[in-house]
Amino acid sequence: MSGMILRLDDVHTDIAQYHILHGVHLDVPEGGVHVILGRNGAGKTTTLRTIMGLWRARKGAVIFKHHDITRMHVSDIARLGVAFVPENMGVFGGLTVAENMRLATRDGSFDTARLDRVQTLFPPLKTFWDKQAHALSGGQKQMLAIARAIIERRELILIDEPTKGLAPAIIRDMIVAFREIAAETTVLLVEQNFRFAGALGQTVAVIDDGRMVHHGQMAELVESQKLQDRYLGLSMAAAE
Ligand SMILES: Nc1ncnc2c1ncn2[C@@H]1O[C@H](COP(=O)(O)OP(=O)(O)OP(=O)(O)O)[C@@H](O)[C@H]1O
Ligand SMILES: [Mg+2]
Repeated sequence: MSGMILRLDDVHTDIAQYHILHGVHLDVPEGGVHVILGRNGAGKTTTLRTIMGLWRARKGAVIFKHHDITRMHVSDIARLGVAFVPENMGVFGGLTVAENMRLATRDGSFDTARLDRVQTLFPPLKTFWDKQAHALSGGQKQMLAIARAIIERRELILIDEPTKGLAPAIIRDMIVAFREIAAETTVLLVEQNFRFAGALGQTVAVIDDGRMVHHGQMAELVESQKLQDRYLGLSMAAAE
């Protein structure tokens, strides 16, 4: 486990009667951005939800910083410092940006220096601080979802497809924001946008049909046409 913040060892997850993860192995180094790529239905979201305790692994182990979290409750996993930003973002539309943010704090109060940094990272959140979240654009909602995950310092942030449906200019802002976030924590990022993932990732794992079919350095995948031909066909939006 040396140097690793998270390890999945032979993880099998069932959803209802379906066997979805077929023995997933994953090592996530501490610090930086680490990416899981894979086509629609490959098991990316299921992997993140299994780590967070939202699905339960039937077999195998999920180890976070020497804690066996395989059978822990979601709230206990969160308390250890793991946050999850789901694909649908989990933003409460009827609440203001401020209220959404406050709910993500441990005791309902903000560390003002930290809040200031988060608002500098995502300026629209400051502009729309007292507006209801349903009035935000898709990109701004995504910023709010990520801001909620980092308003308190976390050890590990699991993020599911943050660039989905976002305009290129916002994706560029997101790259800057993620670099800053990754300077203080570890990010496990599920992506289908290879340009975004390639710009940020240190390591990459490719999942297909509930199994990891490739592990390596992101730089190696970005530079190798041969590896891309072999694995990015497994990631639908890779060629965009
Ligand atoms: N609630 C569920 N009930 C039944 N099957 C499910 C459920 N959720 C996911 N699955 C199935 O599990 C498999 C993996 O789904 P998962 O959501 O992990 O894929 P994904 O890699 O995140 O795909 P996408 O890129 O489309 O988000 C798929 O075949 C999916 O149909
Ligand atoms: Mg998914």
